[in-house]
Amino acid sequence: MQAIHPIGIFDSGYGGLTVFKAIKEKLPQYDYIYVGDNARAPYGNRSFETVHEYTWECTRWLLQQGCPLVILACNTASAKALRTIQQKDLPALFPDRRVLGVIRPTAEVAGDMTVTKKIGVLGTKGTIQSNSYPIEIHKFHPEIEVVQQACPMWVHLIENNEHNTPEAEFFIQKHIRSLLEQSSEIDTALLACTHYPIIEDKIRKYLPPHIKIVSQGSIIADSLTDYLHRHPEIESKLTQNGGMGFFTTDDPADFNEHASIFFGQEVTSEHLNLE
Ligand code: DGL
Repeated sequence: MQAIHPIGIFDSGYGGLTVFKAIKEKLPQYDYIYVGDNARAPYGNRSFETVHEYTWECTRWLLQQGCPLVILACNTASAKALRTIQQKDLPALFPDRRVLGVIRPTAEVAGDMTVTKKIGVLGTKGTIQSNSYPIEIHKFHPEIEVVQQACPMWVHLIENNEHNTPEAEFFIQKHIRSLLEQSSEIDTALLACTHYPIIEDKIRKYLPPHIKIVSQGSIIADSLTDYLHRHPEIESKLTQNGGMGFFTTDDPADFNEHASIFFGQEVTSEHLNLE
């Protein structure tokens, strides 16, 4: 039997499925394995050390399954773990593999999104405190003003399937209001957390209509397509059977029940035991 060499996709929970959906639509030919660390989600309020430890455990498992390339479809992990993985973990253990994040590709296209040159970034506490978005956006677009708002409750509510409740509305409105108080001139709101597209209609309700909402799925799918064109040494290692595997560190029945909301189709997952 031919060995499978899939693209690995990782998130702390369900959110990365919104990115995977866009990638799968754009690049259906490749094989994929998704890991959601639902048992330990959310990562948003955790320390650098913990986010790195958890992210690397899941990423290492994906690499051990034969993935030549892993996408951290999680902003918090991209902000807090990617650099150590790229600079220390990979060179020591898997020097010919690659791990990519979602912040840099999003920052690169941020300039095309705004006319007023003012962008509002909504993300987890970890992503916002890391300052990764202003730093990366300014590398490509020094003229853009970036205002940021941490939304510490949103991933909790989404992971616990409580995002259609009045309590969720309260927290969504609260954090949007705080973002708008920082600048009246933003014309673009960047959903810098892969869970947030699920509550986009609620976010829309509390943002003035002229503010464009940008989510990351298609940005990451385009950037991956471009990366694979530029890196034939990685692309040629990927197998192309259109296969998908889903793994969760929590209960697969729960995962299957909720994942379709994010992925847009039924999902059958297996339990991943990292011990
Ligand atoms: N989807 C993750 C992100 O993009 C959520 C992080 C968390 O678990 O808090 O940041």
